[in-house]
Amino acid sequence: AKEGVSAEPTSRNYYSPSSQNPDVTCIRKDSSAKKLITGAIMNNDFLRQLEASHVRRMVDCMYERVYSQSQLVIQEGAAGNHLYVLAEGLLDVIQNSRLLGQMHPGTAFGELAILYNCKRTATVKAVTDSKIWVLDRQVFQNIMMSSAQAQHQEYFSFLRSVSLLKDLPEEKLSKIVDCLEVDFYDKGDYIIREGEEGNTFFIIAKGKVSVTQAVEGSQEPQQIKTLGIGDYFGEKALISEDVRSANIIAEEDDTQCLVIDRDTFNQMVGTYQELQTYLREYVFQLALNDHDRRNARKKS
Ligand code: CMP
Repeated sequence: AKEGVSAEPTSRNYYSPSSQNPDVTCIRKDSSAKKLITGAIMNNDFLRQLEASHVRRMVDCMYERVYSQSQLVIQEGAAGNHLYVLAEGLLDVIQNSRLLGQMHPGTAFGELAILYNCKRTATVKAVTDSKIWVLDRQVFQNIMMSSAQAQHQEYFSFLRSVSLLKDLPEEKLSKIVDCLEVDFYDKGDYIIREGEEGNTFFIIAKGKVSVTQAVEGSQEPQQIKTLGIGDYFGEKALISEDVRSANIIAEEDDTQCLVIDRDTFNQMVGTYQELQTYLREYVFQLALNDHDRRNARKKS
């Protein structure tokens, strides 16, 4: 739409993959796009309050639109039909013909009219050709209203298959599903660096990672093992405040990890002490087994 023409047609007026089926259609995107959208949502004061499971689905359902220089994205006073994340380009924010500011890639906008059902509070206009991720209002509402039960069930079953969590009581596992976030990595990205402080625990949902560690007499860290789907790392951070004992590096593009941090555990699960005891016992048992295996190997 050029200036003067409605900046923001309703989803029925133009083709978009998700408007064909407002029942939450997933749009394929690479990990750097998912990372950018997730980051933008978490940087927005209003959107970061949404539940992690809702954010995951919003990221999945956004689709791309290209705006040319000078094109209006949002018109002040109009009804809001979409939520946006700027991927590439530069946008002006204008109110009553006054420039309020500019938006750069990685910014979510248009949230006010969508969240609070008010008219658009400002005009947003492309300064340069821009690529923008778009979420239809209807899809956003469907995501918010649906119980997210199906996805919850999917993550729940997946976590049950993770050895560390297999004996955890149902209601605790369920709370963990509610506060999981997904992080995306490309091949070669460092997820954890040896020696750094860390308070996050990761479960691999997609892809592979390599574990490397500094070794005496060698300049380069040596690879210890690779981990795949269902494997986890960083669990010691949930128990103690030790620094990271190894590097974890993504081995494939679009490696996805489910991430939980210590504070979220404290706030959301609320049974941190109990869980800590559970994890401590689990990790202790693993260490014992490891020790027994090594001794058995020495003897044979
Ligand atoms: P919404 O009112 O839905 O549509 C216009 C958007 O511009 C608004 O949501 C915010 O995302 C954004 N916006 C409003 N005021 C400002 C501001 N002062 N600075 C930056 N962005 C703003």
